[in-house]
Amino acid sequence: MLPIFLSQKKFQTAVSKQAAEACEHILNEMGAELHDDLIQKLSVFRLYLDRLERATYSPQETERILLNMRTDFESVTMAVRRISGRLLQMRMEDDSFQTGIEVLCQNMAHERAGNVHFEYSGAPQPIPELSQTYLYRIVQELIHNAFKHSAAWHIWVRMKWSPHVLTLEIEDDGTGFNKPAEFITLLRKKNNTLKMRSQAIGAIITFDQGQQGLIAKVKYSF
Ligand SMILES: Nc1ncnc2c1ncn2[C@@H]1O[C@H](COP(=O)(O)OP(=O)(O)OP(=O)(O)O)[C@@H](O)[C@H]1O
Ligand SMILES: [Mg+2]
Repeated sequence: MLPIFLSQKKFQTAVSKQAAEACEHILNEMGAELHDDLIQKLSVFRLYLDRLERATYSPQETERILLNMRTDFESVTMAVRRISGRLLQMRMEDDSFQTGIEVLCQNMAHERAGNVHFEYSGAPQPIPELSQTYLYRIVQELIHNAFKHSAAWHIWVRMKWSPHVLTLEIEDDGTGFNKPAEFITLLRKKNNTLKMRSQAIGAIITFDQGQQGLIAKVKYSF
């Protein structure tokens, strides 16, 4: 906890010091995680390869080894995901909100093997932390929805800054949008986390038919 009565300069120095210490702590933690967990998990694969070489003439043994490799591979993926999640969080705290959204687009494109195009216009302005978190989650859910419900190949995330207004557009080229009117009515009515988060920060979320799929717009005034 920071003492309440401090000069502005002292306060900033104390905050920076705390932030640096927190980063240091996360880096140490991640270093230990890489060392104790991930490296051990990966070295098991060296043993698996040796065993596979010896089992060339036994299909049953080969199958058994492959089964174990598959399970262990899952846990390696999970470990990497955990570490990258922590490091990304750190990045989010440090970097601008816009960079956070751009990184989110890159990560989701990579995870889903799709294309998430990030575009922006105007000059970024500072917005409150809670709004940043909620807008980030809203974009995440809209991209997730596009991949899940529309089998989209391409998703466009557009960030438009104008003085005191930020507009976020998420559009997909999905083919799942066979009955657009029905889905749009459903989305407009449904009290989901998209709506709840928007209301909580005074943003307005709208859904319309885009060029091919759905276009969702979030208008946030600050
Ligand atoms: N990009 C999209 N393209 C086509 N249909 C969509 C799209 N996004 C949402 N929908 C439709 O709107 C519905 C409501 O979406 P919503 O995110 O509220 O719920 P959900 O994705 O079904 O469930 P949850 O978000 O809890 O996993 C979806 O079930 C789907 O039918
Ligand atoms: Mg959803």
